[in-house]
Amino acid sequence: MGTAAALLLTVSLLYLTAASVVRASHVIYPELQSLEAKEVGKKLRTGYHFQPPKHWINDPNGPMYYKGLYHLFYQYNPKGAVWGNIIWAHSVSTDLIDWVSVEPGIYPSKSFDINGCWSGSATVLPNGVPVIMYTGIDPAERQVQNVAYPANLSDPFLREWVKPNYNPIISPDRSINASAFRDPTTAWYGPDGHWRLIVGSKEDMRGIAVLYRSRDFRRWVRAHHSLHAGNTGMWECPDFYPVAVAGGSRHHRSGVDTLELRDAAVASEVKYVLKVSLDLMRYEYYTVGWYDHAKDRYTPDPSFPDNDYGLRYDYGDFYASKSFFDPAKKRRVLWGWANESDTVPDDRQKGWAGIQAIPRKIFLSRSGRQLIQWPVEEVKSLRGIHVNVSNKAVKSGQYFKVTGIKSVQSDVEAAFAIKDLDKAEKFDPAWRTNAQGLCNRLNSHVKGGVGPFGLWVLASGDLKERTAVFFRVFKTNDTNYVVLMCNDPTRSTFEAKDYRPTFAGFVNMDITKTKKIPLRTLIDHSVVESFGAGGRTCILTRVYPRIAIGDKAQLFVFNNGQSEIKVTNLHAWEMKTPTMNQPE
Ligand code: FRU
Repeated sequence: MGTAAALLLTVSLLYLTAASVVRASHVIYPELQSLEAKEVGKKLRTGYHFQPPKHWINDPNGPMYYKGLYHLFYQYNPKGAVWGNIIWAHSVSTDLIDWVSVEPGIYPSKSFDINGCWSGSATVLPNGVPVIMYTGIDPAERQVQNVAYPANLSDPFLREWVKPNYNPIISPDRSINASAFRDPTTAWYGPDGHWRLIVGSKEDMRGIAVLYRSRDFRRWVRAHHSLHAGNTGMWECPDFYPVAVAGGSRHHRSGVDTLELRDAAVASEVKYVLKVSLDLMRYEYYTVGWYDHAKDRYTPDPSFPDNDYGLRYDYGDFYASKSFFDPAKKRRVLWGWANESDTVPDDRQKGWAGIQAIPRKIFLSRSGRQLIQWPVEEVKSLRGIHVNVSNKAVKSGQYFKVTGIKSVQSDVEAAFAIKDLDKAEKFDPAWRTNAQGLCNRLNSHVKGGVGPFGLWVLASGDLKERTAVFFRVFKTNDTNYVVLMCNDPTRSTFEAKDYRPTFAGFVNMDITKTKKIPLRTLIDHSVVESFGAGGRTCILTRVYPRIAIGDKAQLFVFNNGQSEIKVTNLHAWEMKTPTMNQPE
């Protein structure tokens, strides 16, 4: 188990009462799950991240675009600020920025979902009809897969959903663990005219993507083999989708609709992404590979580690993610859930828990060696007052404050040029598989050769409170370098009870070419969401400052490395507050 997972477990255990139990991956607090929030704590509430007015949220569900509106459903507890009473809450938006809450999409009402409506996906059929496929918990506490159709296709809000009586359409057969069988993906259409989808499961310690096929979206038959499997425990919320490759007939940044896979020419030209959420580790990893339609087998490219040290969308607090194809802008958009990392009593007091990360455009890099993510372009519409710093040198041990904006709710884009790459310290190859451990040890206070340098965000004026987003560069030999990106919240607050893990990932870039590392950080009261090197490495962290809140939160640039760095350009914008889930 990784350090983060171990810490998380410890923190969870600390708050487990004698009466609580763990069901799915969520800790249950029977005494809290139906306690309405009396007030909503405003202090650390995010301004432009997606969240409902109160209570608990987890996974994004069934994102889609329909008749001019983006739809986002999400796992929601309408009665309290901890996991429980789960329904599919539903919001709509014209631009992924301003959101309006409509009535819940799916909630327990039939025997096949009476004990819960868990995660799932939407598939827009070739005739334009959207279908939701979700996991229901039946009276025997079995996880079964159900479908729901819109009651009224002419309503762009898709307010009402009908669950046909022929549900469940997929039940766990004898060989499947019925309490580990959930989160169906968007279905894709093979060139043979049959639908396919996968459901997350496990067999002992083996995570499995169980494959089903259907001719009519109603009768589903399990394939003899799974699409893929791995020794990493339960696979929750799998996602499987095509991505365009550089040099193909479409731009590699454009999205590919799973529906297009009917066309054998498209199917043969794309690569495929399989993402799984590891219940044991509480993080996700992905591989990119080849999918053989005839044999229904997925084979990751050998350059992608296919295990729990594989590449991640995000090296921080980001889980149960789901992507969808946006036909309006021909892009693939990724949603991910960021849980709180404060305590359950704090959540109870705040009256809310959980947000969705800013939706990200996601595509395969030109080299094909990783995915790139970038906040959807619409986010720029929230940018307000702006400041700019350019060509400012920051010598070893120095820092400066960025003034002129309120940075507590801001968008910061910076580029750091490195003066002396030669000063980089030696990299030990043993560190390759443990970026987080490395960053824990060499945190933002430990002086280095090249770095640590970067931003201190949500910092108090006296710098006692601060969260560091930073880079370090190491050298493997005279010509090769390794870039590490870290997020260090250990000084984000004095409250010892908060869970403050250091998060880190390596950045796949050739630093010798530009000698410069770009960084974009979205700061939003209790969220720090960072995109390193143009979206090659992303880290989201939740922090809970006690002093650096509201107008007191400050932004600094620091350099604790021997090599001087130069901020070639830094742009920072105050971010406006969109309409966030007001009822219609
Ligand atoms: C992931 C998850 C899913 C499940 C849902 C229940 O966070 O455990 O596997 O469907 O949450 O809320």
